[in-house]
Amino acid sequence: MLFAGGCAAARDGGNERRIEGLVASMTLEQKIGQMTMAEIGHITPQQAAAFHVGAVLNGGGGRPYGRDDATLADWQRLAGEFDAATRAAGVPLLWGTDAVHGHNNVRGATLFPHNIGLGATRDPALVRAIGLATARALRASGLAWTFAPTLAVARNLRWGRTYESYSEDPRLVALLGAAQVRGLQDGGALATAKHFIGDGATEGGVDQGDVRLGEADLLATHGAGHRAALRAGVPAVMASFNSWRGRKLHGHGHLLGTVLKRRLRFEGLVVTDWDGIGQVPGCTATRCAAALNAGIDMVMLSERWQGFIEDTLDLVRRGEVPEARVDDAVRRILRVKLRAGLLDRPLARPDDPALADRALARRAVRESLVLLKNERGLLPLARGTRVLVVGKGADSVALQAGGWSLSWQGGQHANADFAPAETVLQGIRAALGAAKVAFSETGEGVDAADFDAVIAVIGERPYAEGKGDIPPGATLRHADRHPEDLAVLQRVAGQGRPVVTVFLSGRPLEVNELLALSDAFVAAWLPGSEGGGVADMLFRRADGRMAHRFRGRLPFAWPRSADAADYASRRAQPLYRFGHGLAGGR
Ligand code: BGC
Ligand code: BGC
Repeated sequence: MLFAGGCAAARDGGNERRIEGLVASMTLEQKIGQMTMAEIGHITPQQAAAFHVGAVLNGGGGRPYGRDDATLADWQRLAGEFDAATRAAGVPLLWGTDAVHGHNNVRGATLFPHNIGLGATRDPALVRAIGLATARALRASGLAWTFAPTLAVARNLRWGRTYESYSEDPRLVALLGAAQVRGLQDGGALATAKHFIGDGATEGGVDQGDVRLGEADLLATHGAGHRAALRAGVPAVMASFNSWRGRKLHGHGHLLGTVLKRRLRFEGLVVTDWDGIGQVPGCTATRCAAALNAGIDMVMLSERWQGFIEDTLDLVRRGEVPEARVDDAVRRILRVKLRAGLLDRPLARPDDPALADRALARRAVRESLVLLKNERGLLPLARGTRVLVVGKGADSVALQAGGWSLSWQGGQHANADFAPAETVLQGIRAALGAAKVAFSETGEGVDAADFDAVIAVIGERPYAEGKGDIPPGATLRHADRHPEDLAVLQRVAGQGRPVVTVFLSGRPLEVNELLALSDAFVAAWLPGSEGGGVADMLFRRADGRMAHRFRGRLPFAWPRSADAADYASRRAQPLYRFGHGLAGGR
């Protein structure tokens, strides 16, 4: 499946003739229906068929039939209902979902480390394997399309989506982004390059903000991941919420039309972000000639998909959107469906349908941890160590999973909702034996001196998108946003027992006081459902040898000061430079 230019064989003559025939046979209503993507909470399979709707999505945390406890069978059933109804009406629809670290809206699915952790692994073969496992999970649930990977080159740590970025380095983003696309495709799923373009480059790291770079810099740095994804054959590109020099990408004919479609010769479909057309000046959430004329092919709508169909019919009838533009959009949508095999038969379930690949995720966690500090070769600890575990992150899958984990913002579900999964504390107990492990979340009422070592698992609370932005007035000092973490370390430090801090976060932050109170410090990012992978790295084997060397290397330079959020100041005077990471042991 190839959708980018440069690959001469990409356009198959027979396929293109078939697409032309289909487009010629469709009414304007049917064509505009194909351009519509509705949220599953607001459309039935019967409506999708009646209006020839081209796609549906489940928004973050959206599950079939509005059921929080939806089972795999529920996903399969609703997917089957949408497919059967729309197929009978002529063209089967696609169902897209944010499977951004595994199939993260589905109960029972393994949650892999978020992209920032994968950036620390620098391991394209691992990322490709994760793409394959994610594709298997998607198809096991009856879906084939994910809105991933995010190819942002995040340049300001204030941005709440920094953890969705593999790295601040465009080469690393390109390497791992392409690997993720390939892995998803190996497993028969459709990937989306998002968000085109400049999402990680906004002024002040403001989510959906404005990018003021020159065009050459914008394309070279922030287009690197997209070009690599296109070369890997990505079938869909999502327009970004951000603006470039004051103009929203969703209405940017130069960047979407001229650059992406003509210069980069992208032949797949361009989809909007969530109600994204409504942000274009002069448009509403359902009516936007500027976006369609700029090159948007498919429009993602939270609720008012019928309004979009009516308004777009009107725009075409008035001549504000040429029918030729509609035809081009539909051709692209049908091309994606045809090459995915969807027009000929319903999605086949994979031979090995599985929601979980816990061993792979655990390996990814091991590879992603970055050891920043290790006084006197403290880590790994001996097997026989008696440990006191403290910190709000120690026994919480929600905290270690971050945003986009069963819910949009994350943080809402109990450990049991993520089953099968393991917290860091559970992993430590499994490694040492429960008798050697005590736990106190706050560190109150326990005496560190009763143990050989303390392990503190602390960090950020989950967030997604703009809700994770650190606004201009606020600092990057972690203790300002989470004083409870400094407090817990102050309780256990200085008692003559070494303190190991495991820091769960979506980004590097100013942690100088936390570092000073810790003998060893591990940046664990947002490792996902397999806390055992963290425990794997903390302890030696029973015979005293090292089980695993730390291999993770910083994908972002770590800030020295509380205001060094941007790339230039972090790089100029990092506390830990880009690529830093100790191996552990002496
Ligand atoms: C996000 C996208 C996501 C979409 C669908 C938007 O708010 O920016 O990354 O794919 O929602 O959930
Ligand atoms: C949805 C997300 C979406 C977000 C955009 C949420 O309600 O669940 O999928 O990305 O809204 O603001």
